[in-house]
Amino acid sequence: MIHARIAGTGSFLPGPPVGNEALIAAHGLESTDEWIIERTGIRTRHIAGPGVNSSDLALEAARRALAAANCAADDIDLVIVATSTPDYIFPSTAALLQDKLGIRNGAAAFDVQAVCSGFVYALGIADKFIRSGANKRVLVVGAEVFSRILDWKDRGTCVLFGDGAGAVVLEAASAPGLLASALHADGSYNKILAVPGHLACGQPTGDPLLRMDGQAVFKFAVKVLAEVANEVIAAAGMTREQIDWLIPHQANARIIQATAKKLGLPEEKCILKVHAHGNTSAASIPLALDEAVREGKIKRGDHVLLEGVGGGFTWGATLLRY
Ligand code: UT7
Repeated sequence: MIHARIAGTGSFLPGPPVGNEALIAAHGLESTDEWIIERTGIRTRHIAGPGVNSSDLALEAARRALAAANCAADDIDLVIVATSTPDYIFPSTAALLQDKLGIRNGAAAFDVQAVCSGFVYALGIADKFIRSGANKRVLVVGAEVFSRILDWKDRGTCVLFGDGAGAVVLEAASAPGLLASALHADGSYNKILAVPGHLACGQPTGDPLLRMDGQAVFKFAVKVLAEVANEVIAAAGMTREQIDWLIPHQANARIIQATAKKLGLPEEKCILKVHAHGNTSAASIPLALDEAVREGKIKRGDHVLLEGVGGGFTWGATLLRY
Protein backbone atom coordinates (compact mmCIF):
# COMPACT_ATOMS: atom_id res chain seq x y z
CA MET A 1 0.00 0.00 0.00
CA ILE A 2 1.28 3.49 -0.86
CA HIS A 3 1.27 6.19 1.82
CA ALA A 4 2.29 9.86 1.82
CA ARG A 5 4.79 11.37 4.25
CA ILE A 6 6.29 14.81 4.73
CA ALA A 7 9.89 14.67 3.53
CA GLY A 8 10.76 18.31 4.29
CA THR A 9 9.31 21.68 5.24
CA GLY A 10 10.21 25.30 4.49
CA SER A 11 8.83 28.79 5.03
CA PHE A 12 9.48 32.42 4.25
CA LEU A 13 8.38 35.77 5.68
CA PRO A 14 9.00 38.99 3.72
CA GLY A 15 10.84 41.96 5.25
CA PRO A 16 11.20 42.87 8.91
CA PRO A 17 8.34 42.35 11.39
CA VAL A 18 5.91 45.30 11.55
CA GLY A 19 4.70 45.94 15.11
CA ASN A 20 1.20 47.07 16.06
CA GLU A 21 2.30 50.61 16.95
CA ALA A 22 4.08 51.04 13.59
CA LEU A 23 1.03 49.75 11.69
CA ILE A 24 -1.33 52.04 13.62
CA ALA A 25 0.92 55.05 12.93
CA ALA A 26 1.44 54.19 9.25
CA HIS A 27 -2.29 54.03 8.53
CA GLY A 28 -3.60 56.53 11.08
CA LEU A 29 -5.79 53.87 12.74
CA GLU A 30 -7.93 54.48 15.82
CA SER A 31 -6.52 51.49 17.63
CA THR A 32 -3.97 50.55 20.28
CA ASP A 33 -1.26 47.95 20.74
CA GLU A 34 -3.12 46.79 23.88
CA TRP A 35 -6.45 46.25 22.04
CA ILE A 36 -4.84 44.23 19.28
CA ILE A 37 -2.82 42.05 21.68
CA GLU A 38 -5.75 41.49 24.07
CA ARG A 39 -8.34 40.60 21.37
CA THR A 40 -6.09 38.71 18.93
CA GLY A 41 -2.68 37.94 20.45
CA ILE A 42 -1.05 39.58 17.40
CA ARG A 43 2.09 41.65 18.08
CA THR A 44 3.77 41.74 14.66
CA ARG A 45 3.19 40.69 11.05
CA HIS A 46 5.26 40.83 7.85
CA ILE A 47 4.27 42.87 4.80
CA ALA A 48 5.60 42.15 1.31
CA GLY A 49 7.22 45.10 -0.48
CA PRO A 50 5.90 46.53 -3.75
CA GLY A 51 6.23 44.08 -6.63
CA VAL A 52 6.69 41.07 -4.35
CA ASN A 53 3.95 38.54 -5.10
CA SER A 54 2.72 35.22 -3.73
CA SER A 55 4.88 33.26 -6.20
CA ASP A 56 8.00 35.07 -4.91
CA LEU A 57 7.24 34.11 -1.30
CA ALA A 58 6.29 30.59 -2.44
CA LEU A 59 9.64 30.27 -4.26
CA GLU A 60 11.70 30.95 -1.11
CA ALA A 61 9.57 28.62 1.04
CA ALA A 62 9.69 25.90 -1.64
CA ARG A 63 13.49 26.12 -2.00
CA ARG A 64 13.83 25.60 1.76
CA ALA A 65 11.41 22.66 1.74
CA LEU A 66 13.25 21.04 -1.18
CA ALA A 67 16.59 21.44 0.63
CA ALA A 68 15.12 19.96 3.83
CA ALA A 69 13.75 17.02 1.82
CA ASN A 70 17.11 16.60 0.07
CA CYS A 71 15.24 16.74 -3.19
CA ALA A 72 15.96 18.46 -6.53
CA ALA A 73 13.31 20.65 -8.14
CA ASP A 74 13.00 18.21 -11.05
CA ASP A 75 12.16 15.36 -8.62
CA ILE A 76 8.78 17.11 -8.07
CA ASP A 77 5.98 15.70 -10.24
CA LEU A 78 3.10 17.89 -9.02
CA VAL A 79 2.99 21.48 -7.69
CA ILE A 80 -0.04 22.66 -5.72
CA VAL A 81 -0.25 26.21 -4.38
CA ALA A 82 -3.00 27.20 -1.97
CA THR A 83 -3.63 30.92 -2.26
CA SER A 84 -6.42 33.51 -2.32
CA THR A 85 -3.98 36.21 -3.43
CA PRO A 86 -2.60 34.78 -6.69
CA ASP A 87 -0.15 36.82 -8.78
CA TYR A 88 -2.63 36.88 -11.67
CA ILE A 89 -6.14 35.76 -12.53
CA PHE A 90 -4.24 33.26 -14.67
CA PRO A 91 -1.87 31.53 -15.15
CA SER A 92 -1.97 29.89 -11.73
CA THR A 93 0.58 30.79 -9.07
CA ALA A 94 1.56 27.10 -9.11
CA ALA A 95 2.50 27.34 -12.80
CA LEU A 96 4.54 30.50 -12.10
CA LEU A 97 6.24 28.73 -9.17
CA GLN A 98 6.99 25.68 -11.31
CA ASP A 99 8.74 27.98 -13.79
CA LYS A 100 10.64 29.94 -11.10
CA LEU A 101 11.90 26.68 -9.60
CA GLY A 102 13.13 25.59 -13.04
CA ILE A 103 10.99 22.44 -13.08
CA ARG A 104 11.13 21.30 -16.72
CA ASN A 105 9.79 17.75 -16.40
CA GLY A 106 6.17 18.54 -17.28
CA ALA A 107 4.98 18.25 -13.65
CA ALA A 108 1.32 19.25 -13.28
CA ALA A 109 0.68 22.53 -11.47
CA PHE A 110 -2.53 24.07 -10.16
CA ASP A 111 -3.85 26.38 -7.44
CA VAL A 112 -6.34 25.57 -4.69
CA GLN A 113 -8.74 28.28 -3.55
CA ALA A 114 -10.10 27.51 -0.10
CA VAL A 115 -8.91 30.69 1.65
CA CYS A 116 -7.49 29.96 5.14
CA SER A 117 -8.27 26.22 4.78
CA GLY A 118 -6.33 26.18 1.51
CA PHE A 119 -3.23 24.41 2.78
CA VAL A 120 -5.19 21.63 4.48
CA TYR A 121 -7.24 21.23 1.29
CA ALA A 122 -4.06 21.11 -0.85
CA LEU A 123 -2.44 18.58 1.48
CA GLY A 124 -5.57 16.38 1.37
CA ILE A 125 -5.55 16.51 -2.45
CA ALA A 126 -1.80 15.76 -2.65
CA ASP A 127 -2.26 12.79 -0.30
CA LYS A 128 -4.87 11.31 -2.64
CA PHE A 129 -2.68 11.83 -5.74
CA ILE A 130 0.20 10.02 -4.01
CA ARG A 131 -1.91 7.18 -2.58
CA SER A 132 -3.47 6.58 -6.01
CA GLY A 133 0.04 5.98 -7.41
CA ALA A 134 -0.26 8.93 -9.82
CA ASN A 135 2.52 10.98 -8.19
CA LYS A 136 5.65 10.35 -6.14
CA ARG A 137 6.72 13.79 -4.91
CA VAL A 138 4.33 16.70 -4.53
CA LEU A 139 5.30 20.24 -3.58
CA VAL A 140 2.44 21.66 -1.48
CA VAL A 141 2.64 25.39 -0.76
CA GLY A 142 0.50 27.98 1.02
CA ALA A 143 1.45 31.52 -0.06
CA GLU A 144 -0.33 34.83 0.49
CA VAL A 145 0.02 38.59 0.17
CA PHE A 146 -3.16 39.46 2.08
CA SER A 147 -1.80 42.99 2.65
CA ARG A 148 -2.91 43.67 -0.97
CA ILE A 149 -6.61 43.00 -0.32
CA LEU A 150 -7.00 44.84 3.00
CA ASP A 151 -8.98 48.03 3.57
CA TRP A 152 -6.44 50.04 5.57
CA LYS A 153 -9.26 52.23 6.89
CA ASP A 154 -11.05 49.24 8.48
CA ARG A 155 -9.37 48.72 11.87
CA GLY A 156 -11.53 45.63 12.45
CA THR A 157 -9.68 43.71 9.72
CA CYS A 158 -6.46 45.41 8.61
CA VAL A 159 -4.62 44.75 11.89
CA LEU A 160 -5.26 41.01 11.66
CA PHE A 161 -3.49 39.82 8.53
CA GLY A 162 0.05 39.37 7.25
CA ASP A 163 2.02 38.02 4.28
CA GLY A 164 4.13 34.84 4.06
CA ALA A 165 4.54 31.36 2.66
CA GLY A 166 5.07 27.82 3.89
CA ALA A 167 5.77 24.64 1.94
CA VAL A 168 6.14 20.89 2.34
CA VAL A 169 7.46 18.15 0.07
CA LEU A 170 5.06 15.23 0.33
CA GLU A 171 6.46 11.93 -0.95
CA ALA A 172 5.34 8.34 -1.47
CA ALA A 173 6.37 6.02 1.37
CA SER A 174 5.75 2.48 2.54
CA ALA A 175 4.45 3.67 5.94
CA PRO A 176 2.29 6.70 6.88
CA GLY A 177 2.74 9.69 6.97
CA LEU A 178 -0.63 11.18 6.64
CA LEU A 179 -3.08 9.12 8.71
CA ALA A 180 -6.44 10.78 8.08
CA SER A 181 -7.85 13.92 6.55
CA ALA A 182 -11.28 15.55 6.30
CA LEU A 183 -12.40 18.49 4.17
CA HIS A 184 -15.68 20.39 4.47
CA ALA A 185 -17.48 23.49 3.21
CA ASP A 186 -20.78 25.29 3.74
CA GLY A 187 -21.21 27.90 1.03
CA SER A 188 -24.29 29.36 2.70
CA TYR A 189 -21.84 31.26 4.97
CA ASN A 190 -20.20 32.95 1.95
CA LYS A 191 -21.00 36.48 3.16
CA ILE A 192 -19.35 36.48 6.61
CA LEU A 193 -15.81 36.54 5.17
CA ALA A 194 -15.32 37.60 1.57
CA VAL A 195 -13.62 39.81 -0.99
CA PRO A 196 -16.84 40.36 -2.92
CA GLY A 197 -15.46 41.84 -6.13
CA HIS A 198 -14.07 40.76 -9.48
CA LEU A 199 -12.57 42.13 -12.68
CA ALA A 200 -14.96 42.83 -15.53
CA CYS A 201 -14.01 44.52 -18.80
CA GLY A 202 -10.70 45.58 -17.27
CA GLN A 203 -12.24 47.25 -14.20
CA PRO A 204 -12.60 46.11 -10.57
CA THR A 205 -16.33 45.49 -10.10
CA GLY A 206 -18.01 45.16 -6.71
CA ASP A 207 -15.84 45.49 -3.60
CA PRO A 208 -12.27 44.21 -4.12
CA LEU A 209 -11.28 44.38 -0.41
CA LEU A 210 -11.63 41.92 2.47
CA ARG A 211 -14.88 42.19 4.46
CA MET A 212 -15.58 40.19 7.60
CA ASP A 213 -18.18 39.75 10.31
CA GLY A 214 -15.53 39.03 12.95
CA GLN A 215 -17.81 37.69 15.67
CA ALA A 216 -19.68 35.34 13.31
CA VAL A 217 -16.36 34.02 11.99
CA PHE A 218 -15.02 33.59 15.53
CA LYS A 219 -17.99 31.45 16.66
CA PHE A 220 -18.03 29.38 13.49
CA ALA A 221 -14.27 28.75 13.69
CA VAL A 222 -14.26 27.48 17.27
CA LYS A 223 -17.20 25.13 16.57
CA VAL A 224 -15.89 23.52 13.39
CA LEU A 225 -12.23 23.36 14.44
CA ALA A 226 -13.17 21.19 17.44
CA GLU A 227 -15.56 19.04 15.35
CA VAL A 228 -13.13 18.36 12.51
CA ALA A 229 -10.28 17.59 14.93
CA ASN A 230 -12.43 14.94 16.60
CA GLU A 231 -13.42 13.62 13.16
CA VAL A 232 -9.84 12.94 11.99
CA ILE A 233 -8.74 11.59 15.38
CA ALA A 234 -11.60 9.04 15.17
CA ALA A 235 -10.87 8.31 11.48
CA ALA A 236 -7.25 7.51 12.37
CA GLY A 237 -8.42 5.22 15.21
CA MET A 238 -6.58 7.33 17.75
CA THR A 239 -7.37 9.20 20.95
CA ARG A 240 -6.83 12.87 21.85
CA GLU A 241 -4.13 11.83 24.33
CA GLN A 242 -2.02 10.52 21.44
CA ILE A 243 -1.83 13.96 19.77
CA ASP A 244 1.60 15.49 20.39
CA TRP A 245 1.01 18.79 18.59
CA LEU A 246 -1.99 20.78 17.42
CA ILE A 247 -1.39 23.34 14.64
CA PRO A 248 -4.63 25.23 14.09
CA HIS A 249 -4.97 28.00 11.52
CA GLN A 250 -3.29 31.03 13.08
CA ALA A 251 -6.05 33.66 13.02
CA ASN A 252 -6.52 34.67 16.63
CA ALA A 253 -4.87 33.38 19.84
CA ARG A 254 -8.31 33.32 21.51
CA ILE A 255 -9.72 31.00 18.81
CA ILE A 256 -6.72 28.69 19.20
CA GLN A 257 -7.02 28.65 23.00
CA ALA A 258 -10.79 28.02 22.85
CA THR A 259 -10.27 25.16 20.37
CA ALA A 260 -7.58 23.53 22.51
CA LYS A 261 -9.85 23.84 25.55
CA LYS A 262 -12.79 22.24 23.71
CA LEU A 263 -10.52 19.39 22.68
CA GLY A 264 -9.12 19.00 26.18
CA LEU A 265 -5.58 19.55 24.90
CA PRO A 266 -3.11 21.45 27.09
CA GLU A 267 -1.97 24.77 25.59
CA GLU A 268 1.66 23.55 25.59
CA LYS A 269 0.67 21.15 22.81
CA CYS A 270 -0.51 24.02 20.59
CA ILE A 271 1.87 25.64 18.13
CA LEU A 272 1.12 29.35 18.46
CA LYS A 273 2.64 31.71 15.87
CA VAL A 274 -0.13 34.24 15.38
CA HIS A 275 1.65 36.72 17.71
CA ALA A 276 4.54 36.96 15.21
CA HIS A 277 2.86 36.33 11.83
CA GLY A 278 -0.70 37.63 12.16
CA ASN A 279 -3.17 35.72 10.01
CA THR A 280 -1.38 34.64 6.81
CA SER A 281 -4.40 32.68 5.54
CA ALA A 282 -3.31 29.60 3.52
CA ALA A 283 0.32 30.13 4.59
CA SER A 284 -0.35 30.07 8.33
CA ILE A 285 -0.32 26.30 8.93
CA PRO A 286 2.77 25.38 6.87
CA LEU A 287 4.60 28.42 8.31
CA ALA A 288 3.84 27.29 11.86
CA LEU A 289 4.71 23.68 11.01
CA ASP A 290 8.07 24.61 9.51
CA GLU A 291 9.05 26.88 12.39
CA ALA A 292 8.09 24.22 14.95
CA VAL A 293 10.14 21.61 13.07
CA ARG A 294 13.17 23.92 12.83
CA GLU A 295 12.87 24.86 16.52
CA GLY A 296 13.14 21.14 17.31
CA LYS A 297 9.66 21.00 18.86
CA ILE A 298 8.12 18.65 16.29
CA LYS A 299 10.26 15.54 15.85
CA ARG A 300 10.06 12.51 13.57
CA GLY A 301 7.39 10.13 14.84
CA ASP A 302 5.30 12.85 16.54
CA HIS A 303 1.57 12.90 15.87
CA VAL A 304 0.58 16.31 14.54
CA LEU A 305 -2.94 17.58 13.90
CA LEU A 306 -3.24 20.40 11.34
CA GLU A 307 -6.57 22.19 10.99
CA GLY A 308 -7.82 25.11 8.97
CA VAL A 309 -10.94 27.23 8.69
CA GLY A 310 -11.72 30.11 6.39
CA GLY A 311 -13.85 31.88 3.84
CA GLY A 312 -16.37 29.91 1.90
CA PHE A 313 -16.92 28.75 4.60
CA THR A 314 -14.37 25.97 4.36
CA TRP A 315 -12.72 23.85 7.01
CA GLY A 316 -10.64 20.72 7.26
CA ALA A 317 -7.97 18.80 9.13
CA THR A 318 -5.12 16.36 8.60
CA LEU A 319 -3.69 14.06 11.24
CA LEU A 320 -0.16 12.91 10.44
CA ARG A 321 2.83 11.09 11.87
CA TYR A 322 5.73 13.44 11.14
O1 UT7 B 1 -9.02 33.21 8.92
C1 UT7 B 1 -10.25 33.48 9.53
C2 UT7 B 1 -10.32 34.95 9.53
N1 UT7 B 1 -10.76 35.68 10.61
C3 UT7 B 1 -10.81 35.40 11.92
O2 UT7 B 1 -10.52 34.35 12.40
C4 UT7 B 1 -11.29 36.50 12.80
C5 UT7 B 1 -12.29 36.04 13.82
N2 UT7 B 1 -12.73 37.13 14.65
C6 UT7 B 1 -11.94 37.77 15.51
O3 UT7 B 1 -10.78 37.43 15.64
C7 UT7 B 1 -12.53 38.86 16.37
O4 UT7 B 1 -13.94 38.88 16.19
C8 UT7 B 1 -11.93 40.26 16.06
C9 UT7 B 1 -10.48 40.30 16.52
C10 UT7 B 1 -12.01 40.54 14.57
C11 UT7 B 1 -12.71 41.34 16.80
O5 UT7 B 1 -12.69 41.08 18.19
P1 UT7 B 1 -14.03 41.14 19.03
O6 UT7 B 1 -13.66 40.87 20.42
O7 UT7 B 1 -15.03 40.23 18.37
O8 UT7 B 1 -14.44 42.66 18.88
P2 UT7 B 1 -15.79 43.29 18.27
O9 UT7 B 1 -15.86 43.05 16.81
O10 UT7 B 1 -16.94 42.87 19.11
O11 UT7 B 1 -15.53 44.83 18.50
C12 UT7 B 1 -15.49 45.39 19.82
C13 UT7 B 1 -15.15 46.84 19.69
C14 UT7 B 1 -15.99 47.59 18.65
O12 UT7 B 1 -16.22 48.87 19.14
P3 UT7 B 1 -17.66 49.24 19.81
O13 UT7 B 1 -18.68 48.97 18.75
O14 UT7 B 1 -17.78 48.32 20.99
O15 UT7 B 1 -17.50 50.67 20.16
C15 UT7 B 1 -15.06 47.68 17.48
O16 UT7 B 1 -15.35 48.78 16.64
O17 UT7 B 1 -13.79 46.98 19.27
C16 UT7 B 1 -13.72 47.86 18.15
N3 UT7 B 1 -12.59 47.51 17.33
C17 UT7 B 1 -11.35 48.00 17.57
N4 UT7 B 1 -10.89 48.82 18.51
C18 UT7 B 1 -9.58 49.10 18.47
C19 UT7 B 1 -12.54 46.69 16.26
N5 UT7 B 1 -11.27 46.63 15.79
C20 UT7 B 1 -10.53 47.43 16.58
C21 UT7 B 1 -9.17 47.77 16.61
N6 UT7 B 1 -8.75 48.60 17.58
N7 UT7 B 1 -8.27 47.29 15.71
